[in-house]
Amino acid sequence: MSQVQTTQATPAEVTFALNAPVAMTAFGVQSDAQCKAFPQGHEHQAFVPPRSSFYKFRTGIRMPVMNWLYSPNGDALALTGPTGSGKTSLIREIAAILNWPYMQANAHSRMEVPDLIGGLRLECDPATGDQRTVFSYGPLALAMKHGYIFCLDEGDFLDPSVMSGLNAILEGAPLVIPENGGEIIRPHKFFRFVITCNTRGQGDDNGLYGGTLAQNLATWDRYRMVEVPYMSAEDELETVQHVLGGKAGDIIARMVEIANKVRAQFVGNPSPTGETGNLTVTFSTRTLLRWARISGSYKRANVEGCAMALALRESLTNRAPIDQRIAIHTIAQTVFGPELWKGDEVLVAAQVVDTVAGA
Ligand SMILES: Nc1ncnc2c1ncn2[C@@H]1O[C@H](COP(=O)(O)OP(=O)(O)OP(=O)(O)O)[C@@H](O)[C@H]1O
Ligand SMILES: [Mg+2]
Repeated sequence: MSQVQTTQATPAEVTFALNAPVAMTAFGVQSDAQCKAFPQGHEHQAFVPPRSSFYKFRTGIRMPVMNWLYSPNGDALALTGPTGSGKTSLIREIAAILNWPYMQANAHSRMEVPDLIGGLRLECDPATGDQRTVFSYGPLALAMKHGYIFCLDEGDFLDPSVMSGLNAILEGAPLVIPENGGEIIRPHKFFRFVITCNTRGQGDDNGLYGGTLAQNLATWDRYRMVEVPYMSAEDELETVQHVLGGKAGDIIARMVEIANKVRAQFVGNPSPTGETGNLTVTFSTRTLLRWARISGSYKRANVEGCAMALALRESLTNRAPIDQRIAIHTIAQTVFGPELWKGDEVLVAAQVVDTVAGA
C-alpha cells in the first residue's frame, strides 16, 4: 500500500497570517477604521491578483463578502447577478487589497473534479530524457493546501453531479489524493471557496444564459448568496469617469442614463411588480465602459458620421435583433438630442424603411 502523506504547515507559513492592518479607505470608506490583511511579501505573494486602477466598492455588497472572508463559519459563497455587474471583479479586488492569494477556474459543463484537484501527467527527466508520471496539482487542491481564495467562475455551468461532488470539501473534509501517494490535504484555515453565476442556481429563467444548469438544492444549502446587481447611476457615472480619466462628464452622464433606460426594458430585469421589458440584450457595466472608450477614440479620430452611434453598434447593438437595435438607438437619440446624434446610420436606415413602408 502506498505511504500516506499529510500536508504540514511549513515554518515559512508563519508569515502568512491575517495580521497586517489595511485602512478601510482602500475600499472607499471615509473613516479611520482598519481591517486585517496579509502582510506584503508573504510566500504566496505571486498568487495575489493585481489591483485595477479604479474600483467602486458598494458597501452593501462588499460588507457581506468581507464578513464571509473573515468568518465563513463553514459556508461557501455564491455571488449571483446579471452579466457584467461586477461579480468576478469584486472578489478579485477584495483579494488584491487584503493581499490574499487567489485562484480562479472557469466552470464548463464538461469539467470534472480532477480538473480542479489535479491529475497525473507525463514529465520528461531533463537529465536522462526518461519519461515519468508525476502528479500535478489542480487549482482547487493548491488553494486548499496553501490557504487561497478559490473562485469557480460561472459556477452554474458545472454539471450538477460534479458540483455536488465538491460538497464534502465545502464542509471542511480533507481531500485525499490516491494518485499522489495518498496525500491528504486538510483545508488550510485561509482557504475560501466562492462561485459566481448569472442564475440563482435554479436554471436559466428566461433563456438568456444558455449553457447554465440548474444545480442541486442540497448544494445551494452550503452557500451564502450575495446578489450583485448593476450599479446605481451615480456609482456608475463615477466609475466610468475614473476609468476614462475624468473627461467628458456630461456625455458620460447621458451614456449612463441610456444604459439605465435599456436595463429597465431588459427582459432579464423584472421590475418590483414582476413586469419585464422586451429587450433581450442589455447594458452591462463592461459594455458601457466599452461604449465610452470606443466613442472617445472615434471622436479623437474624427470618424465620419455619429461616432457614438458607431461605437454603440460595436459595443452592444450589432448583437441585437434589428427591431431592438432601432429601439436602443432611438433611446440614445432621445437622450442626446437630434443634434448630437446626427448621422446615426441605424436610424437613417430605419427612416428609409419607414418611408418605403408608408409610401
Ligand atoms: N464596481 C466596479 N468598479 C469598477 N469597474 C467595474 C465595477 N463593476 C464592474 N466593473 C467593470 O465591469 C467589468 C465587468 O465586471 P465583472 O467581470 O466583474 O462582471 P461579472 O459580473 O463577473 O460578469 P459576468 O457575469 O459576465 O462574468 C470589469 O472588468 C470592470 O471593468
Ligand atoms: Mg464574471
